[in-house]
Amino acid sequence: MAKINVNGRVHDVSAEPDTPLLWVLREQVGLTGTKYGCGVAQCGACTVHIDGAPVRSCALPLAAVQPSQKITTIEGLSHDGSHPLQKAWVQLDVPQCGYCQSGMIMAAAALLKDKPRPTDADIDASITNICRCGTFNRVRAAIKQAAGDTRVASLDIVHVHRSTT
Ligand code: FES
Ligand code: FES
Repeated sequence: MAKINVNGRVHDVSAEPDTPLLWVLREQVGLTGTKYGCGVAQCGACTVHIDGAPVRSCALPLAAVQPSQKITTIEGLSHDGSHPLQKAWVQLDVPQCGYCQSGMIMAAAALLKDKPRPTDADIDASITNICRCGTFNRVRAAIKQAAGDTRVASLDIVHVHRSTT
């Protein structure tokens, strides 16, 4: 039995010490917003915060998490979707399939905490998450919008209509 603090609540969990935190969060705490992508710390789909720092939870064993450490998942970023990133994500219609997006938002939230007005280079260096749908341009625009960069008020999305005749 171990104790973990997730989104402000302490949970008693029962898992082998080498169980990745990702599976403890999903299967024991019941928070399924954090996704499994690669399982080898490459894609970022499983990103959560530990004491505010982004961590790839698929590669972090439960035994490495101390009860005093504060874990934040996508469910804990805000209670009502009011985090500036969540609002920007909706306004710019960022997700495609959506699978990678919790991890993207958590990585972006950590970046904005560290650098409230990130440059393109900051974003490229910090957001190493992989999106198979290729939403990278919209992710970047949404991060800038959430950061209050008024130069990115909107992102033009061109819809191509093909004639069937
Ligand atoms: S599932 Fe953790 S980095 Fe891909
Ligand atoms: S939105 Fe589909 S993988 Fe990123």
